[in-house]
Amino acid sequence: MGVFELRYPTRSIFGKGVFERLGEEAAAFGKKALLVTGRRAMKEAGTLDKAVELMRDNGVEVAVFSEVEPEPSTETVDRAVRLIREEGCQLVVGLGGGSAIDVAKAAACLAVHEGSTSEYLAGERKIEREGLPFIAIPTTAGTGAESTNNSVLIDKSRGIKKSIRSPLMLAKLSIVDPLLTVTMPPRVTAASGMDALTQAIESYVSLASNPVSDALAIRAIGYISRYLPKAYENGGDLEAREMVMLGSFMTGLSFSNASLGAVHGLAHPIGAHFGIPHGVACAILLPHVMRFNLGVRREKYAEIAAAMGAEPKAEKAVEKVEELLETLNIPKGLSHFGVRKEDLEKVVRDAGGRSLSNNPRPASEEDLLNILLEAL
Ligand SMILES: [Fe+2]
Repeated sequence: MGVFELRYPTRSIFGKGVFERLGEEAAAFGKKALLVTGRRAMKEAGTLDKAVELMRDNGVEVAVFSEVEPEPSTETVDRAVRLIREEGCQLVVGLGGGSAIDVAKAAACLAVHEGSTSEYLAGERKIEREGLPFIAIPTTAGTGAESTNNSVLIDKSRGIKKSIRSPLMLAKLSIVDPLLTVTMPPRVTAASGMDALTQAIESYVSLASNPVSDALAIRAIGYISRYLPKAYENGGDLEAREMVMLGSFMTGLSFSNASLGAVHGLAHPIGAHFGIPHGVACAILLPHVMRFNLGVRREKYAEIAAAMGAEPKAEKAVEKVEELLETLNIPKGLSHFGVRKEDLEKVVRDAGGRSLSNNPRPASEEDLLNILLEAL
């Protein structure tokens, strides 16, 4: 066994109903919060109003920034940073899916830095200090953004989707309440759940995995694959919601240490160029990348198959994932979203980053192109 290093510095509270603790927890960080969320879902579910009320009842004033789009841009973070400064906020709360949490995470940190978000994304400026305290409250069970040290953003002017990453960006607290996921529509449940499963599988076979991240990932694979179909079919199934949320949370802890793989290396440029929801892009690519990797991680894929309730054989893991995609009605190929063969080269050109370099089997540009052709 090699040397490994772990980082689990975020204090997390998990369980049904823990959202109620937001007010008292926020009050410990400051007197005025910026609440960052998406445009509609949280308002419609009543969760946004409830969050504001919980904080106000505990003496925390709240300014709301509800402009986060599904694939958030650097400009959105710039606008949130401006609001933090204008309103004199002392803490930031991210409420929503991965996008809302990522915008809140970046804005909390960049509020104490000079320059534009775009400059940090491009690596022209570096994160140098901790930002404002940031509380992450995920309302989808999938991204793990509450535990990660990065914020995935699109820079429209440069046409890139990548991460701003720094341990200084980690949340001070994450409040992970499965009850908040009950209002997620089936389509979002499926996509975010498949993002979580992809992340669990990629971190389990990653070159950067270690025994601790493995323990989290393999357990998460079992929970998500067993309970995601139930949560998809009946959103009110609280046991299923809780177990998928737990799987997603454990996955975040796993991959924030063990990194990801080729699915995520490719999913980012696909998201940037074609606007396919991240979880759906991951779901479509996953079985193809698994097949590509199978030969170099047979034992681990056999363990994945067993965790998913199949015979412990590597190939069975791919079959199980394909069955799950069928159950969740995930479109079969990228062409469903208008991606054409001639588009694939630009996806390969923009693929890369940390995820790709931790894929267990090195993938050349030609390999990536073949994977994409299979996934078309
Ligand atoms: Fe992901």
